[in-house]
Parts: sequence; structure tokens; C-alpha cells
Amino acid sequence: MELNEVREKYLAFCKKQGHTIIPSSSLVPENDPTTLFTGSGMQPLVPYLLGKNHPSGSRLADSQKCFRSGDIEEVGDNRHTTFFEMLGNWSLGDYFKKEQLPWFFEFLTKEIGLDPQRLYVTAFMGDEKNGLPKDSEATEIWQQLFAQVGVDAEVVEIGSEADGYIKGMSWGLPAGRQGRIFYYDAKKNWWSRAGVPENMPVGEPGGPDSEVFYEFTDVEHDSAWGEHCHPNCDCGRFLEIGNSVFMQYIKQASSTGSEQADDSFGLLPKLNVDFGGGLERIAAVSENSSDIFLVGPLWRIISELQKHTEFEYGSDPKITAAYRVIADHMRSACFLMADGVVPSNADRGYFLRRLIRRSVRYADKLNLPIGTLASVYAVVMQEYQKQYPELTVDHSDAIRAEEDKFRETLHRGMKEFTRFAGDGSISAKDAFQLVTTYGFPLELIIEEAGERGIKQIDTEGFKELLKQHQDLSRAGSEQKFKGGLADTSEKTTRLHTTHHLLLKALQIVLGPGVKQRGSNITQERLRIDFSWPEKMTEDQKREVERIVNEKIAEDLPVIRNEMAKEDAEKLGAEHEFGAKYPERVSVYSVGPKNATEENPQLDEVYSIEFCGGPHVTHTGELSESGTFKILKEEAVSAGIRRIRAVLE
Ligand code: SER
Repeated sequence: MELNEVREKYLAFCKKQGHTIIPSSSLVPENDPTTLFTGSGMQPLVPYLLGKNHPSGSRLADSQKCFRSGDIEEVGDNRHTTFFEMLGNWSLGDYFKKEQLPWFFEFLTKEIGLDPQRLYVTAFMGDEKNGLPKDSEATEIWQQLFAQVGVDAEVVEIGSEADGYIKGMSWGLPAGRQGRIFYYDAKKNWWSRAGVPENMPVGEPGGPDSEVFYEFTDVEHDSAWGEHCHPNCDCGRFLEIGNSVFMQYIKQASSTGSEQADDSFGLLPKLNVDFGGGLERIAAVSENSSDIFLVGPLWRIISELQKHTEFEYGSDPKITAAYRVIADHMRSACFLMADGVVPSNADRGYFLRRLIRRSVRYADKLNLPIGTLASVYAVVMQEYQKQYPELTVDHSDAIRAEEDKFRETLHRGMKEFTRFAGDGSISAKDAFQLVTTYGFPLELIIEEAGERGIKQIDTEGFKELLKQHQDLSRAGSEQKFKGGLADTSEKTTRLHTTHHLLLKALQIVLGPGVKQRGSNITQERLRIDFSWPEKMTEDQKREVERIVNEKIAEDLPVIRNEMAKEDAEKLGAEHEFGAKYPERVSVYSVGPKNATEENPQLDEVYSIEFCGGPHVTHTGELSESGTFKILKEEAVSAGIRRIRAVLE
């Protein structure tokens, strides 16, 4: 079954069960300073999983574009990609396990036509120290579902992934029988954005999950992974195709301290379901193909590349891996560019640059002529434009420009390589510099060294350096995560409301043409990027501060309104440049003084913005944090200024 067909079938199936189909959010998260990219379907929905009402109701479904930068080095095998579409359905306090699991099973077996004999499922075995119970309800539902299609489904308490390699599919069962439903620990069957329960910051939602795996009976277990195979084994015999998260818990501050953690979870206001399924993987298993690169758009990108070289996909593992890296990386690059990312040395632009640079190196391995990579853009446009209209603008010139620029860097990198290799070895530091500054992937350094007869490469030391580097950036992003809007703490919420007051004040002082171009809010400070061509004068800054403080002193009501997108636009509500919104939207208005939820007096507001919240109910609350003050006003790029401000 083709990708587009699977997507259509899934959305139609969800619609039949009463879901509203919502558009995919951008790969660049809107109003979420906690992360660089949208990496899962639930990310844009966090405020609603935490209990806020969604304007489109309590049953939602979509196909969400995702990019996982952490997976760049994994790409090359038959199933890992950095970009993917995640099919999603959500219950926001509506249905729960006994609806979700049967629906997904029905979708796979009836709509896609998968043989239930090929399906294996997992459930959460519980976590005593955190007071989280075993999910026996999920296993009972699965047993009934398998029984209905005549499959005897045995339950195996496999425990951890490491246990799996030792115990395998038949552990604890009578001879000749094997498991179908497997219990694993929190490492495998607990989902939160921060991972296992211990790693979750206070205020983060999470819950036990139940995954479905497809078995490729023609793939032999590879004992390099352990003696026995099991659903979570990485040998490639089993492929995860969907995950139902029962999002019902929230991490709370433990009253007894960290050693006694069993009171560290509370219940969310409602029981939610967060389901995510890999579209490309489901399409691949519908054709019983264990190689997802052999189906759909990825295959058509590879076919296009093959026209320009004598090397054939599948002829040799290295050649095959090179094709996979290019097809994956270039597709990700196209989608990122379509969402406004440009190659640079920082943040999102850095990842885009890395994707293109890695592709250039692998293109050389395949003898692809210079400029071939840019031609992938046209294939991606043709494949995805119907679903993702943002792919109508052609960015192939920018890819070509980046390739040309990189070739100059590469030329210098090769000189460095020769210099480093002068003493017959490549040290950890040399390798690290080649990877981070010159964009050489490690495997190519090893190859290049091999060709030059250099035997000593300190790959272990290099990995250690890389890990230190990653730990540092992870610590940085955890800091961001804790302090970000998503933590919905009082301090952050107050600064979020202040942010609305500030945007309007800027428009009053500088002119109505001022538009927001980015935002980032932590517990300590707010940051706004806005369109304005020159440095603000001292007087302008003082006047903006005066207005914001005046609005705080007036104690204006802050009101959330739901309305048709069209009506919000007519009211002149501010919205993020380039963002896509559903038909019904959430809008926050500030003022006038006597506005109420029943009568928000939208013609008289001080400020009105498309926004998912959260906000304080009255601006007077902000004075409890202090007075509004601009700390810094500076340029970020041509025509864009940035303000950092605080309440103190
Ligand atoms: N949040 C879960 C995941 O990303 C399911 O959507 O796997």
C-alpha cells in the first residue's frame, strides 16, 4: 500500500470514530521555546494533555511531520530516518484503553490487511518505586482481541530489554509455545518527552504505553544482539509500528524527598490517549518489506539518484547505506527548508547544514555528479506537495549553494586531514575537529585513513569527546526545558502574559506594522523578536516600559475565546508569521477593564492574539513578580530586533 493511501485510510478511519482531523504543525515549534524541532505528534498538544480545552474538541487525529536530530548517526540501516510522519490520534479526557487498543488492532488487521499472526504487543510491567501499577488492563484487552481472530496469545513477563536477550520469546512457557504479549519495564513501556519516570521534570505529563510490533519471518535473528530474539530486539526481525500512550500521570514534587519517590506522581485532571504510528513503517509492512527505503517517496528519491551513477542500491552494504543516508538527509533538508530553516552554524540551521554536508560526502562515495543533490528537491515536492503545500517554493538553489560552499570547506578539511595524518595517526581531538568543523562523518574518516594506510585512529577517545559535547548541549536543553513555557509554572505564565502586553506596546510606540518573529520565555525572562529596521531610542524603550506597567496597574482581565479562524483574523488578532492554524482557534484578549468571559467586548480590547496559553486571569497578578523592565534591545538579523525583559 502506498504512503498516501495509508495516510488517507488512517485519517478516514479516525474520522469515522468521531475524531476531528487537525493540520500538521510546522517542524519549527510554535510558541514552544523548549525544543528546536517538532519530534513527535504529541508535542504541539502538550497544553491540552495537561487539561486545557482544545478548540477542535476532545477527539483529534492528524499526520504530523517530525524531525529527530538525535538520530542523524543512526541512519543507514533499513529502518531509521531523521524525518518521518507520525500518524496520531488523541483522546483529551474522552475514550481510553478499551476503545484505543481495539481501534488500532482493527485498523492494522482490517484496513491495512496485516496478518494478526505477525503482530506482537507490549505493556508496562509497573514501577514499584514510583508507585506506578502494572498495566494488566491492557494485556487483558489484547488477549481478547487476539482471541477474536483465533490467535492464542500467551503473556510473557520479560522485564527489561537486557532480560529479553537472555530469555527470549518462549521464556517460562511450556515447550513449543511462544509469547505474543510482553511486559517490559519503564525503559521500554513508559512514555514522556523526558523518558523514564526519574528523568521527568515536575509538571511533565507521562504514562504507561503499549506498543505493537510486526514480525518479518524472513529475517533471521542475528545473535550479535543476544542469544534470543524478542519484540524489542534490535536485530531487525521485529519492527515497532505504533505506540498507544495512556497519558494519565503528572510528575509532582515528592513530599518525602528523592529517596522515597513513590509519591512523585499525581493524576492529570483527565485520562488521555496519545497514539503515534510510523506512517512509513506501516506502509512498508503492508508490503512485507523490512527495508522502508524500498517503498514510497524514499525509493523514488533513490531511483532518481541511481540515474546518475553506475552504483546500484543493494549491490553492497556500504553503497546501500550511502543511498539511505542521502535519501533520508535530503528529504529532511527539504522539509526543514520549506518550514523556513536556512543553513547556518547555530541551532536549527546547524542541523540543516549537517544534513546537507553529510549528503555531499556520501554523494562523492557514489560518484554522483556535483549538483545532483539539489535535484532531490523536485522529487520531494512532487511526492509531498499535495499533503504539505509549504513545499511549493523551490529551495534547490540554496542546496546547490550550500554544496558549493561546503566543497571549499572540504578542500581545506582535506589539507587538515593530511596534516593530522602526517604522524601516521588520527588523535581523538583531530577526529573531533574533522567531524565538527569540517563535516566529515566518522565512518568516512576511518575510510579515508584506511585508503592512506593510517592504522591508528582514536575512535574511543573521539566518542568520549563527542559524548562530553552532547552532554553539555543536553544539559543546556534541559535547562531550557525546565524553564520554558511548557512547564506552565507561575513565573513563566506571568512572563507569557507580559509578552502579550509588550507586543502591543511596541505597536503603539513604533507603529502597527511591528510583527512578532519569534519568542522564548523562561522563568527568569522573556525574549521577543520583532520586525523593526533600527535600534530603538532610549525614549522609545522608556515609553514601552511605561505602557506595559500601566496595563499591569490597570489590572485588566485576560480572557480566552474560541472562535472561527476567519473571525479571529477579522478582529485583527496577532498570529505567528507563516504558521498554520485549524479552522477553530483559541485567542487570548487583554482588557477592557469590565470585560468578562460571557461578554469579552472584543471590539474594545487592549491586545488580542492567537494563542494556546497559559495566562494569568488579571494583569494585576504580574505586579506580584515586580515591575516590567527592558534589559536589552539588539539586532538579530537584518530588519529583526530582539528584546529581553523581566518583571523584577
Ligand atoms: N508520544 C508517543 C511517541 O512519540 C506516541 O505518540 O511515540
